[in-house]
Amino acid sequence: MSIILKIKEKSKALGKKIVLPEATDERVLRAAADVVKEGLAVPVLVGSEATIKAEAEKLGINLEGAVIADPNNCEKIDAYVAKLVELRAKKGMTEEKAKEILTTDVNFFGAMMVKMGDVDGMVSGSDSPTSNVLRAGIQVVGTKPGMRTVSSVFLMELASKQETYGDIILFGDCAVIPEPTSEQLADIAAGAAETAKAVAGLEPKVALMSFSTKGSAKHDTVDTVIEAGKILAERGVDFEFEAELQADAALVAAVGAKKAPESKVAGNANILVFPNLAAGNIGYKLVQRLAGAEAHGPLLQGLAAPINDLSRGCSVSDIVNLTAITAVQAG
Ligand code: ACO
Repeated sequence: MSIILKIKEKSKALGKKIVLPEATDERVLRAAADVVKEGLAVPVLVGSEATIKAEAEKLGINLEGAVIADPNNCEKIDAYVAKLVELRAKKGMTEEKAKEILTTDVNFFGAMMVKMGDVDGMVSGSDSPTSNVLRAGIQVVGTKPGMRTVSSVFLMELASKQETYGDIILFGDCAVIPEPTSEQLADIAAGAAETAKAVAGLEPKVALMSFSTKGSAKHDTVDTVIEAGKILAERGVDFEFEAELQADAALVAAVGAKKAPESKVAGNANILVFPNLAAGNIGYKLVQRLAGAEAHGPLLQGLAAPINDLSRGCSVSDIVNLTAITAVQAG
């Protein structure tokens, strides 16, 4: 069974409410109807009830079972405004500004629904750039206790060689932090280990990757990766990890045994943490395009509640799948 089918099965049992704020996008309306039909979650659409219903009728979409939340006709708007003022007071947020943001920016309204516990998670980005979804998540929902970094992973579902590498490998961070510090690399590793357990049911084996394996090359960027490993060791994390591995040493048993014989992770890593966003973003697209892997994500991690970002070229089924994943992250 594919990872997405397994995740959908899990989400059905959870009955989570997930806000899909971009209700002016036809794909979002179609996805909301499919989410209800498949019983994956209760979708919450943001906007004027009359407008959304009229659009759905015009398109022949049945929205029965979906909830509509209108920022301009919302009994909780004063509480939402007060919360945004409180959260962003140090950045000079006023009541007037907060009300304007919450009634005009659906990502902030959706994120505030998550923050206030009115929904369990958010899926957005079919109609807004990654940075807008991230900013709403970071500023409103914030990071979970003990975590200072929001980052991301892709669940790479391999199309071949599963008997050697397993069905699923996580790649992180491929979407958020351009040049992570050692501290941030350690956070990416910790977030990915948690996502691997919660969403993919994997026992995490994290490789902090580099162009050097255990001292084979010297460079400041290698030192950043080595330091991330030291930080994880100091934190006493409860998952296996190894710092400073090249990709082959991380993945290929014979190479791992030769280059890092002491390591429990070398040769059988299932989470690859890239040293920066360029390597991560290029790396996942190469595996997707050249090796035919399905890339599910980016799944955001480190936020206090799940918020996930869609690509603007997403399909209806991408939105449905990410809604199920988000429900499972929330559960
Ligand atoms: N984790 C936690 N907090 C963060 C993070 C993070 N990763 N990034 C920024 N912040 C916080 C800052 O601490 C700051 O907090 P404060 O306002 O309370 O002081 C606030 O967010 C703003 O920080 P800035 O440095 O001004 O960050 P900005 O808002 O400009 O950008 C963002 C942050 C949106 C995450 C940015 O790093 C970004 O755009 N990343 C790349 C996204 C992208 O385009 N990815 C590639 C495409 S995705 C794909 O291909 C799949």
